[in-house]
This record gives sequence, C-alpha cells and structure tokens, in this order.
Amino acid sequence: MRYSCLLLAYATACFGAAPMGWNSWNSFANIVDSQIVQQQAQALASNGMKEAGYQYVVIDEGWWLGERDAAGNIVVNAKQWPALQPGQKDGDMANIAAYIHSLGLKAGIYTDAGKDGCSMYPDSGPRYSNTGSEGHYDQDFQQFSEWGFDYVKVDWCGGAKEKLSGAVQYAQIAHAIQKAEKKTGRKLYFSICEWGSQNPWFWAPGVGEIEGDIWRTGGDIIPPVVESLHDAEHAKRVITAENVLDSFDAGLHPEAQHTGYFNDLDMMVMGMRGMTDALDRTHMGLWAISSAPLMVGSDLTRLSAASLSLLTNKEALAIHNDPFGLQPIIIDEPAPGVQIWAKPMAVAGRRAVAILNRTDAPAQVKVNWKKLGFKGLPGAFHDVWNKRDLVSADATVLVPAHDLALLAVDGEDQAPAEYTASQTSISGIQASPGPSFARLHYANTTGHVIVSRMKSTSGLSTAIVLPPTIGSEVGTVGLILPRGTADLSFDGQPRAIRKLDVYTW
Ligand code: GLA
Repeated sequence: MRYSCLLLAYATACFGAAPMGWNSWNSFANIVDSQIVQQQAQALASNGMKEAGYQYVVIDEGWWLGERDAAGNIVVNAKQWPALQPGQKDGDMANIAAYIHSLGLKAGIYTDAGKDGCSMYPDSGPRYSNTGSEGHYDQDFQQFSEWGFDYVKVDWCGGAKEKLSGAVQYAQIAHAIQKAEKKTGRKLYFSICEWGSQNPWFWAPGVGEIEGDIWRTGGDIIPPVVESLHDAEHAKRVITAENVLDSFDAGLHPEAQHTGYFNDLDMMVMGMRGMTDALDRTHMGLWAISSAPLMVGSDLTRLSAASLSLLTNKEALAIHNDPFGLQPIIIDEPAPGVQIWAKPMAVAGRRAVAILNRTDAPAQVKVNWKKLGFKGLPGAFHDVWNKRDLVSADATVLVPAHDLALLAVDGEDQAPAEYTASQTSISGIQASPGPSFARLHYANTTGHVIVSRMKSTSGLSTAIVLPPTIGSEVGTVGLILPRGTADLSFDGQPRAIRKLDVYTW
C-alpha cells in the first residue's frame, strides 16, 4: 500500500484513504452475474467515477452457492461466470477479475467467516448452506488472490450463527490474507462485515497486524432494492432519511479511525428509490466528512447526472481523502436536529464542516465559529456543493429539510498542549471535557509501514499505522482522543513515537 499523499491537492492522491468503488448487493442482491458486473464496471470506467478515484468493483453474495470439489476448492456456476475471452474456461472467477482489470479497475469478492454464509436472505429463492470459508481460510483466500481479486469482504452470518469470536476469526482471516499476498504478490484489501455486533472498533483496526482495513459498524443501510425483480417485496422498499442517518450515527467511533483504518458506514444508496437530491447531498456529505468507504451500491447505469456530480465532487473527495482520514466531531446543535459537525484535516488550520439538518423544515444557520478551536475567526469559508466562497463569518447558511451543507474552512489553530514521548508512552495528558483532536509526531526510518497498537488506561485500544519517513523528516498522523484520555502507550516500534500535540476545541 502506498501512503504518499499530495497534501494540498484536491482529488485522490492519497493511497492510505478509505476504499472507493461499487458493490453489487444493494441493487442486485443474489442475482449478480458476469453480465451485470461487466455492465457496472463499464459504467464506472466511463461515467467519470474512475477518474474521480472509484476503483473497486466488488461482487457480493450470490456469486457462489456453496459447492466445493473433492479437494475443497470452490466450484462456481459456469453459466453465471462464463469464459469472456478465447482461452478462458467457463466457471472460472479469474475471467471476471481479468475483465475488471482490463478496464483499469480492481476486483473484489465476498465470503463469510463462518461455515454457512448469509445465503439467499432476504430475497426469494432457496437457502444454500456452506457458503462460508470457515475450515478453508488459507485455501479460499489464496484462491481469491490467485483468481486476481484485490479486495475481499468477509461477512458474519455463519460466525453469528455459531457464536464465534469476531476478534479471533478475523485475525485468522487476516493471517490467511497475508499468506495469500505473499504467495501471489497481490494486495488483498480486507473489508470486515460483522455489523458492529462485537464492538469491532476495539479490535478490528489492524486485526492480525493487517496494514489497513475497514469494519462495518452497523446493520444494512437498506434491504436490497432489485428493480428488475418487479416483485411485491422489492416494490415496497423505499429508502428514507432514517436509513442514511442511522448508518451515520452507528458509525461514529472516531477514536478507532486513523489513516488506513476506517469505520465502514455501509455501501452507499445514492439515487436509489426514495433518495431525493437533498438526501443524496446528506449521504455524500456525511460519508465524505467521515472518510468512510465510498462503495456505491446503486445501479451505475441508471445514476442521474445530479447523483453522479455529487459522487465525483472533487472538493468533497478531497475531504474524504484527507491524509488524516479522521471522523468529524459534533461541535454544536444551534436548534434541535440542526447540527454542526467538524473534522480536523491534515493541513494546519483546515476543517471540513457539515451543517446537517435532520428536521422536516428548512433552517437558516449561523455557525458559531468559535467552537472550531481557531485563534480568532476563520479567514476563508468554501461552500463545497456550490463551489463558491462565503462572504463572511456572519453569513447564515440556508439548509433545506433533510439536507446538508458542506464547507471547507481555513483559520489559524490555537497553540496545542505538547507532550513528549518517553520510550513507549506519553503520560500526563490533560483531560479535556470532550473528545480532543491531536497530532502524533513520529519518525519511521525502517523503510516500511509500522503497525502500532495504541492503548490508554481508560480503555482505548486501537491500531495506528506509521508510514515510512525519510532521513530526519518527522511524520504526523491525526487522532481523535476519547474524553478524558490521560495517557497513551504504544506497542510495536516504540522508539518511533516522538511527541503529541493536543488541541482544545
Ligand atoms: C449482510 C451484509 C450485506 C450483504 C448481505 C448479503 O447482510 O451486511 O452488506 O453482504 O449480507 O447477504
């Protein structure tokens, strides 16, 4: 994984950022096949999304019905996954992976950590058992990598049914992934999907020492809406504001999220049935300011120009791809349901600000900029959706019902409190009344990424990734420390940690 980022560039240059792409589940559920995946991959490659940084094409449940040969190898339906080129065999998943690669995109696949998968639920059709990878971790993940896949989502239906430990199973899977990567030389990105059931924010960042991963924080944003099925069950599925807001709310674990490790708020539903332009803006704004994975679950061949322009908005994506990759903190609620969320960015003095209107009525909002931790008032306010600067700090912002305004704001940071590291720890951190934004300075001249586990006596336990630094250069990662953090300790390469700057907001 490359972590180099162009700090000031609007766009997509940061490779430690959360993954972006398409996933088959929300719009196609278990009817996914080669033709659908080819059409979606073509759309992604030609509608501006690829240029904007969306790169993964992920095949979710339904690609395999649990059949294995005598040697335990996965056997797939030859009609569903035919040869696409002379010389290819029917029923070989390498065909579709090669097709996706031929468009300059990356390919993703799906399995379950347990013995059974989720099977056909919630859609019509028979249930299939044995669609999980338990008992075959090394074999399956090596197979995915040999087929050419670059990304794997690992669900938890079987794990939940068997009452397994997520921390244990997903660590074993991380090891299987690492072995597969060594054999094939291909990165296999790890997407954990246990819906927040065992508090993954405490163990999933860096599970099994994996360099970068994501973990789902809640249930499914919606049951899939498969327009082509035209059945009564699918016809009544309509997305509401609650679907979007509940996934955002369930996903807030800012102390667990740093460069390379991300809470997953679920696949996106931009432009799907029930989504209005206002809800699309809310959805894109919340996922972008959260640096959440942007895996679009919509039918890309039917996306409206408005949805597409939000998904490819360069300034929103620059907020998403900010090298610190932090989540926002709520800093004010000037009226019930009208909330100001702010996210510290890697550039000194820069914040992304979302003004979220959860209510049914429009709101005229005057932001209290003093709550953003600046010295004085900020100097520049940029309105991301309308691509223009606001005139002054006194300006009010009109946010329609269920809509969201997204701003990039620049000012001067207040001086931080500084704490020097002593070997493996930093102590005496002044408790703050709310979560605190901090910059952790380090040096890592090993030439490779260091994964360090960061803990505090008040219960924090998360992984941070320290990308390599050159010579006497000091690297910086951003952290959101939970309320009252008084000390931090670091496992791994302790001498790397230099200093912590804690900012008061
Ligand atoms: C679970 C996951 C979904 C999807 C389905 C497939 O519900 O959370 O994202 O993968 O399984 O059945």
